[in-house]
Amino acid sequence: MTYLSVNGSTKLYGIIGNPVNHSFSPEMQTRAFQYHKLNSVYLPFPIQEHDLPRLLDAFKLIGMQGFNVTVPYKERIVKFLPELSEEAEFIGAVNTVKRTHKGWKGFCTDETGFALSLEAQKITIKNKRVLLLGAGGAAKAIAFALSQQKVRQLRIINRSEENALDLKTKLLNIDNSLDVAVNTDVENEFDLLINTTSVGMKGDECPIGEDLIKKCKNVVDIIYNPPITPLLKVAEKSGIRNFNGIDMLLYQGVAAFEIWTEMAAPVEIMRESLKNSLAIVK
Ligand code: ATR
Repeated sequence: MTYLSVNGSTKLYGIIGNPVNHSFSPEMQTRAFQYHKLNSVYLPFPIQEHDLPRLLDAFKLIGMQGFNVTVPYKERIVKFLPELSEEAEFIGAVNTVKRTHKGWKGFCTDETGFALSLEAQKITIKNKRVLLLGAGGAAKAIAFALSQQKVRQLRIINRSEENALDLKTKLLNIDNSLDVAVNTDVENEFDLLINTTSVGMKGDECPIGEDLIKKCKNVVDIIYNPPITPLLKVAEKSGIRNFNGIDMLLYQGVAAFEIWTEMAAPVEIMRESLKNSLAIVK
């Protein structure tokens, strides 16, 4: 690895969360900065909830240029930000913040991350039927991407019907012609099934039954650790094309890097970094 010196002109970036020491982003973003020989560092900042209100002032004082936001602050940071991108406004969550002349602007690159991960798999959404599992923050980002790409039919299944109905209302507010329904009987086949719930993270549970999985032509589970969830195992066994959330994680980072630097992110270098990080934690 090339060593770039740290000096009085070094720019500061980082990630806030709690915990944050598990994050793969410091390594991935540092690789990207180094590739472009940018004099920048990216550090993890474990932040306590009660410090959030004064965080942006503190970051301003120390010259922070931009930062990522992870669990549990993606939604809680929103009210402190003077400006939000359109998708962050819709999703109600922010994972990327950039220093601007007005102060700070919040973005949600999970939406772009998902869209680019489909593009990498050569999957198009326009006029397709999609079954979405979950209605939390990640589901909102993905649903926004799907509605932007003019999905033909969206069916949402979620444990709490109330949360799914909230998501449906939000979607109809931006496009009232969208064919969207919640927890209905699923009769037809789907081009794509997307799991955004945390079911499968512990490696032993599948979010829906095999019958429903077999009605789908493609399956994506946004979980990336473990890399093969029970859902993906069923899909694989049934001969259904499937992939995990590693590309979504990669491309949300790619989009964040490009927002901060306005330079093309070195995608393959960042992918390599994620693969190495995953190999270490396993
Ligand atoms: P994220 O930001 O990763 O989307 P989140 O906003 O906490 O996280 O959302 C988690 C999603 O997983 C929700 O859809 C949640 O369902 P509820 O809306 O009913 O809470 C779903 N989820 C979490 N644990 C679950 C479980 N054991 N069974 C089914 N769904 C679950």
